[in-house]
Amino acid sequence: MDIYTIGFEEQLRILRRVAAPIKNINGDVVQLAEEMINAMVKGNGIGLAGPQVGQLQRIFTIKIGEDDPMVFINPEITATSAELSSYEEGCLSIPGQYADVERSAEIQLQAWNTRGRPFTIETSGLLATVIQHELDHLNGILFIDHLSERKKRNILGKFDVEISNYPGVE
Ligand code: NI
Repeated sequence: MDIYTIGFEEQLRILRRVAAPIKNINGDVVQLAEEMINAMVKGNGIGLAGPQVGQLQRIFTIKIGEDDPMVFINPEITATSAELSSYEEGCLSIPGQYADVERSAEIQLQAWNTRGRPFTIETSGLLATVIQHELDHLNGILFIDHLSERKKRNILGKFDVEISNYPGVE
């Protein structure tokens, strides 16, 4: 399973598309989740979203440290704190680039697991940041979209992408 990066025009276009809800949590979805977890771990990432592997479906996986991997299907944020926190973020689709991003410090989220059961999670710290980063991916948003124009242009330039060729969200 290849991870899409912004350096390839066709892949960047996929990364900028809004993913569709998953209608049936079936064996194909379970298999996709397993493959995504493997690709995420192999790439030394802590999160991976469907569009990053060319699947425009609302699913992402997270694995932080020694914790068990988590799968989120059709996730929706149900509450956010007014308080923000800042983390230096990276992304498997923007390899080698890191920048501080401010996001809600605490979030509440509802999603479905691979057994088709809904669950809610209330969390803060790194997990809250990673969830928001991955949820962004499902809406065609990359962490560089949260940076100043100058910083964004600088990172895009490292992948030979002109800001004028950076696609809008579709
Ligand atoms: Ni990412």
